[in-house]
Amino acid sequence: MQDPIVIAKKAAGEKAAELIRPGMVVGLGTGSTAYWAIQKIGAMVKQGLEIRAIATSEASARLAEELHIPLTTFAETQQLDMDIDGADEISEQLDVIKGGGGALLREKIVAFHSRQLIIIADQHKYVPVLGGYPLPIEVIPFGWEVTYNRLQQLGCKPLLRKKQEEIFITDNGNYIIDCAFGTIKDPAETNAALHHIPGVVETGLFVQMAHTVVLGYEDGSTQVLQ
Ligand code: A5P
Repeated sequence: MQDPIVIAKKAAGEKAAELIRPGMVVGLGTGSTAYWAIQKIGAMVKQGLEIRAIATSEASARLAEELHIPLTTFAETQQLDMDIDGADEISEQLDVIKGGGGALLREKIVAFHSRQLIIIADQHKYVPVLGGYPLPIEVIPFGWEVTYNRLQQLGCKPLLRKKQEEIFITDNGNYIIDCAFGTIKDPAETNAALHHIPGVVETGLFVQMAHTVVLGYEDGSTQVLQ
């Protein structure tokens, strides 16, 4: 029997992929939910759908290549029609925490230049208030120790992300500091405060960027929020 969470993620990913129309430039998200959207897009391309895509990570670019999804770049196209990406937390205001997979910088660039950001997630990611999930923040390696201290002074419990014993390195050659805030009452204010710290490249707070959220449920059904 399939894991109920996998059923929920797959349902959300596939439902979002069905929103894609011929000719679109599509952002391919990163993570275990975006995986299902990319798989579905691959199947649609195989059946003749003509689109071009920009991937939000090296991992998603590799998956797209395996599935023969044509990839483009920002050198060729400056505007995406639709970006489909996962989330770690989604609030009732449709603000989002992303970056659990470490791809938040490219994810935010792609989302910012998309006409529509479709967030896909299993039902458990939908929360009344953001902050239970530690907020991923991409930082420059130079002086990360002082950046870390400043993050702590903002009221979070920071943790430098590691993979096994090694420091986790993003696709952009940076580090991730995961900041446990507990509660983020005003995501826009927190995001602005974080951006004031030199060394912070980007945060995983996607404030008022999502146009649509597709939640997947463990029975395979979906709910669309706007
Ligand atoms: C990648 O950096 C993230 O933003 C993911 O999209 C997010 O962590 C959700 O991942 P899952 O779909 O694997 O839960």
